[in-house]
Amino acid sequence: MILVEMVFGSSLYQQSLALRQLVLRTPLGLVLNETDVIGEEEQWHWGFIQDDVLQACLVIKPQPHASAKLRQMAVSPALQDQGLGRQLLAQAIVLLRERGFTDMTLDARQTAVNFYRCLGFVEQGAYFPQLGIPHIVMTQRI
Ligand SMILES: CC(C)(COP(=O)(O)OP(=O)(O)OC[C@H]1O[C@@H](n2cnc3c(N)ncnc32)[C@H](O)[C@@H]1OP(=O)(O)O)[C@@H](O)C(=O)NCCC(=O)NCCS
Repeated sequence: MILVEMVFGSSLYQQSLALRQLVLRTPLGLVLNETDVIGEEEQWHWGFIQDDVLQACLVIKPQPHASAKLRQMAVSPALQDQGLGRQLLAQAIVLLRERGFTDMTLDARQTAVNFYRCLGFVEQGAYFPQLGIPHIVMTQRI
């Protein structure tokens, strides 16, 4: 797998939208819409490619106070549970440290909380509904 930074609007970015639709929206009966991508030209899009095919992706939204919000983390269904998500997130954290970030935050789906725990994130507060399913804020100093 090769780590790539995807330029907003590029063909790789389009691949990431397709992967996000497949992994994060279709299972919920939803369609990735314009609201989902508002402001993404100012966010960072990182992923793993193999043979020019995007197999995992995430979005980073820089926030005030050296904090980075992780969004839209998705691994291709056929490659889930093989360590790819862990590797991508670990590499993202290295890049964020290099860019001066000290904290990460995310809204975790209940089904993914244990994954983020494995990576050092801690739940904050209570569950809340988003996209019709329970989410919880998780944070980590990086
Ligand atoms: C959640 C997701 C990104 C994790 O990526 P992955 O490549 O499948 O996970 P990894 O193989 O790197 O797993 C790392 C660790 O987390 C655990 N893990 C992975 N997915 C998990 C899940 N959904 N629930 C609980 N634990 C999970 C693994 O067992 C592994 O633990 P271990 O190291 O002790 O064996 C991926 O499964 C995915 O895209 N899921 C569907 C979309 C989704 O829920 N995205 C997150 C939205 S907040």
